[in-house]
Amino acid sequence: MKKYTILTIAGDGIGPEIMAATRPVLEAALQQADVQGNFTVGLLGGQALDEYGVPYPQDTADKAKAADAILFGAIGGPKWDQLPRHLRPESGLLAIREDLKLFANLRPATLFAELVQASSLKPALIHNLDMLIVRELTGGVYFGKPKGIEQRNGERVGFNTMVYSESEIRRVAQVAFAAAQKRQKRLCSVDKANVLDVSQLWRDVVMEEGKNWPDVELSHMYVDNAAMQLIRAPKQFDVMLTSNLFGDILSDAAAMLTGSIGMLPSASLDVNNKGLYEPVHGSAPDIANQDKANPMACVLSAAMMLRYSFNLGAQADAIERAVAGVLAAGYRTADLMPESGDGLQFKILGTQAMGEKINEFLRKSA
Ligand code: IPM
Ligand code: MG
Repeated sequence: MKKYTILTIAGDGIGPEIMAATRPVLEAALQQADVQGNFTVGLLGGQALDEYGVPYPQDTADKAKAADAILFGAIGGPKWDQLPRHLRPESGLLAIREDLKLFANLRPATLFAELVQASSLKPALIHNLDMLIVRELTGGVYFGKPKGIEQRNGERVGFNTMVYSESEIRRVAQVAFAAAQKRQKRLCSVDKANVLDVSQLWRDVVMEEGKNWPDVELSHMYVDNAAMQLIRAPKQFDVMLTSNLFGDILSDAAAMLTGSIGMLPSASLDVNNKGLYEPVHGSAPDIANQDKANPMACVLSAAMMLRYSFNLGAQADAIERAVAGVLAAGYRTADLMPESGDGLQFKILGTQAMGEKINEFLRKSA
């Protein structure tokens, strides 16, 4: 029997609740695939600060390196917002990405047909939307040096460096081309090559790499235009490849197209497809410990784990079908309820009950 070690990091805010709801679904899917899941537990972010005084403790680093994949809930909260930058919960997330060399961040934006009304865009613009953003995650201005705040000529000056080496661009481009090849075979690389030297290199290297993928149609777009096109006509995109900062911004915009950020999973992969899987949404401290949070993004992140790290595409599909089935049957968490109108046709479930409902649909389909 195949065995995988999975590190679960529930994190802060709603993290523990969505993780508790997700784990049985993941276990059921592994069982269906006849795979043994060996679960370990680690701390990151605020929880880790409280326990160890640092956001990314050695214990978590060791467990992460020993694991085949990591499932992560959410990070951060007002309690830790006043700490110096290197002790902020977010620094823990950046540190684990860097430490594990998780350079390829996959952020799908897919619309579940039942939720088309939740988007602020007209249904026709987003009906059947299915795009994937591949964001470079361990380079660029997030990590470039020099950086800092210092005194110059009697005033403070703040600076960061947007830097990419050829090899960093090439390896993430390869992930994006490979993803496009399995989808609609269209890749749009987003940069700011009309202004930035680092973007010119980005474009040159992506074009060179493109020669190795003749069946993928490659296009390029400036990031300002890409922001506009995402809102104007998002269905023109299949796979979008971009750098760390641009991807941070554009992926939030893409998430909102679906109207339900509570639904979107993500994967951060290294060269061997070892990955950290996490919902796109944050820790939502305002609704923590109330059994209100939507666990679907975490459940769908577990599905991505099955697909990308364990090569269990059929089980990943089964989880995604179970989520779609639950929605089609009228079950909703509070965040998915229409703001106006009666919403009487829907049955509202809490976090735990939603996890159980998804599990029920998953088992039914087996
Ligand atoms: C994200 C987040 C992080 C980022 C923060 C929390 C460090 O916004 O994953 O998009 O900027 O990468
Ligand atoms: Mg972000």
